[in-house]
Parts: sequence; structure tokens; C-alpha cells
Amino acid sequence: MSDKMWAGRFAAKTDERVNDFNSSIRFDCRMYEEDITGSIVHARMLARQGIISAQDQAEIEKGLLSIMSDIKSGKLPFDPTAEDIHMFVEAELTSRIGEAGKRLHTARSRNDQVALDLKMYLRKEAGEIAALMLELEDTVTAIAKKHTRTVMPGYTHLQRAQPITFAHHMCAYAEMFLRDVKKLKNAIDNMDECPLGSCALAGTTYKTDRMYTAKNLGFDRPTGNSLDGVSDRDFVIELAAVISIIMMHLSRLSEEIILWCSWEFKFIELDDAYATGSSIMPQKKNPDVTELIRGKAGRVFGDITALLTMMKGLPLAYDKDMQEDKEAIFDALDTVKLCLVTVIPMLETMKVNKENMVSAGKKGFINATDMADYLVKKGMPFRTAYKITGTLVGECIKRGIGLEELPLGELKKASELFDKDVYDAIDLMTCVTRRETDGGPAPEAVERELAALEARTAQLKEQLTRKD
Ligand code: ARG
Repeated sequence: MSDKMWAGRFAAKTDERVNDFNSSIRFDCRMYEEDITGSIVHARMLARQGIISAQDQAEIEKGLLSIMSDIKSGKLPFDPTAEDIHMFVEAELTSRIGEAGKRLHTARSRNDQVALDLKMYLRKEAGEIAALMLELEDTVTAIAKKHTRTVMPGYTHLQRAQPITFAHHMCAYAEMFLRDVKKLKNAIDNMDECPLGSCALAGTTYKTDRMYTAKNLGFDRPTGNSLDGVSDRDFVIELAAVISIIMMHLSRLSEEIILWCSWEFKFIELDDAYATGSSIMPQKKNPDVTELIRGKAGRVFGDITALLTMMKGLPLAYDKDMQEDKEAIFDALDTVKLCLVTVIPMLETMKVNKENMVSAGKKGFINATDMADYLVKKGMPFRTAYKITGTLVGECIKRGIGLEELPLGELKKASELFDKDVYDAIDLMTCVTRRETDGGPAPEAVERELAALEARTAQLKEQLTRKD
């Protein structure tokens, strides 16, 4: 005879290898709090509806609370031979309180139980990631505030293009990260329907109160369809998608930092506490943290690919394939959190080499567009101005000088429209300060952007804490 909770119809014991293969307790044990909380509310509902007695409910609740505190204190280790966290808690409950424990699973299935536990767990984790992202947002905007006048070259194709400021560059990331927080909030908002009560797939004949359990577990309402309730993993994939986008953003920032701390750029220097050395080359200071973040982005994209691929061919409703959802999403959660807690202090402590940014700006003709615009503002058609400036750039390259080093006489030979005010027009700081349209790099424009970012951050912070 099998010794399983589902033993009834089985004559033989499960093969040990199948036991190990089947078991998910190694990783789903992290949802023990959600599992126990869900069970407490489920039992209260059963008692309110007269499905179990008040006495049984009281014993169940007491038993579950003692299990919770024993797990927390380390007194009750997880049994690695248990099938999953749900079976483990239920078996432990019955061994503690006897008969009453066997009534807990009335009008419920592990299928709705696992969907509930996972949704509650992910809702909490998404909130924690959002809090870390808001910290990152503050870090990036604090750096920006210090550098609204730090001129640097902006790039396209990784070629010096036009002058911007380091603040403008940092604010681009602040925009991305704030969008990410908004996406996290949306993902949390979308986890507002409670699957508990869907049971195995077809609901139940007991008169359960799904609205009661939904409300008491922090949801707005129960899921609308019991088949969908147990087979939906959109909320897992949606969160994995948001985390993937966060990782993609972190990876792009990492790539830039890797470039910026190379000798070729030297725009920034990482604090010694956030860099590593080489075992053979004594001069090396390597940006390992950022390289790892860039690498781990690939790992998280693997997680979302696993989730999508696992789900795409599954018939409704629950299939055991879905047990694979947990390791993938847990890995994504752990990875993004690990990256965030490391990247925040790394950014806070990095040194910005303003002089190197400015001198990089002086090479590469990033004021060429401004020279063409100067001629246009004096009446020349843009294409003509573009061509004249291009020719002057060619001449400067030959002589190894910048546009601002060409004497006025020579400029006048290229066009009569040049006057001595051209030197101010193509001065890098002028080029930046004149780009004052909304979203532009001018210090005033960046100040406005920072104020808008701050207001939106405060609003999101408020909305996210209200949700908890
Ligand atoms: N450990 C399972 C999982 O993570 C729980 C649900 C099991 N349901 C079942 N009918 N076998 O998916």
C-alpha cells in the first residue's frame, strides 16, 4: 500500500526516483507563509459557511500558526521527502492536531492552492523589487542633480554625435527605471483576482464564499472562471517580462559603465569596493559587477523563455508541467534583486571625471550640427549649411584641429554669413544650454525633467505603499 495522502487507489509504493523527480519542496518551501495564510482564511470561510465546525476551525488555525512560527524559528525543518509545501504543511497539521487537520482540504485542491500561493508570493516580491527600483531611481537622479552642467559627448553608433550633459544621460536611465516601476505596479494590479475556490478545475458542490476568501487574502475579487483560475500563469509571465525589461535596462547601463571605466574613455572610476583585480596583471581594475549584471540579463531572458515555452502547449486546466514555473520565476526574482542591491551602492560611490568628459567633447566635432544651424539661422538652407560645415570638418581633420580653432578669415571664405559670434554659437556649453526644449540637455530643461521625475516617483511610491 502506498503511504501517500493520495494513497487510496494505489496498490504499490511510488518508486523513490519518481518521488524525488516529482517533489517540489526544495523550491516551493519559500511560499510557506502564503500557503499557511491561505489555509487559515480558507478554514475560516469553511466554518462561516457551516462546512466545518467552529471547533475544528479553531484547532486548524492554532495548529497552522504553530507550524508557521516553528518554521520561522527553524524548529521545524522542511522534510525533503515531502511532495511539496502544500502536502508538507497539511501532513504536519494532521500530525499535530489529528482529525480536524484532515478537514482543511475540503472544497479545495492543490491546483487552486498553488495558484493562490504563487500569486500572493509574487505580489509581495514585486513590491520589494519596486521598492529597490525606487531606490535606484533616487540614486540616479541624485547623480544627475550634481551634473547638470557637466558637458559630455552624446553618441549614436558609439560615435561622438552632439553635446549633452552627464545629467541628461543619467536622466535617460531615470526615465527607463520609472517606467519599470510603473510596469511593476501594473503587474501587481493585475494580480487582483483570487484563484482559491476554483478547486481542481470545476469549482465545488460545497457552498463556499469565494468573495470572503478573496477579500481576506488581499484580492479585489475571485477569478471569473474555475478552469482559468487553476491554469492561468499569465501573472508569472507578466512579472518575468517586467523583470526582463529591468535586466535589459540594467545591462545597457552596465555596458556603458564598462566602456566609461576603460582607459579609452575614463569618464568614471568605480570605487575600489566595487571593482576587482586580476590574478596576473597587477595594473587591472575590472568592472566585474557590471559585467555580471550584463551576463545575468541573459539568464533572466532564459527564465522567461522557459516559462513561455512551458505554457504554450498546455491543455486546460492544471498540468504538472506547471510546477516548472517556480524555479524559473524564483531565479528571475533572486537575480534582479541581487543585481539591484549591488548596483545601487556601486553607482552611489563611483567617481565622475568631469574633465575627461569635457575633453572628449572637444574632440569629435560634436558642435558641427550647431555650426550648420548657425548658418541656417542666418538664412542659409540647411542642406547647403550641412555641406559647408562638412567641408570645414574635413579640413580640420587634415590639420588636427577643432572647428572652433579655424580663424574667422578662413570661415568667411567658406561663407560670408560667418561672423565672430560663431565662436560662441559652437562653444560646447552654448550648444548644450541652447537645447532647452522639453526633454533636451540644457541645464534648465534637465531641471524641469528632474522635477517631473520626482513628482512621478512620489506618486508611484504613494500608490505602491497604499496597495500593501
Ligand atoms: N507542487 C505542485 C506545483 O507546484 C502543486 C500542484 C500539484 N497539483 C497536482 N494536481 N499534482 O505545481
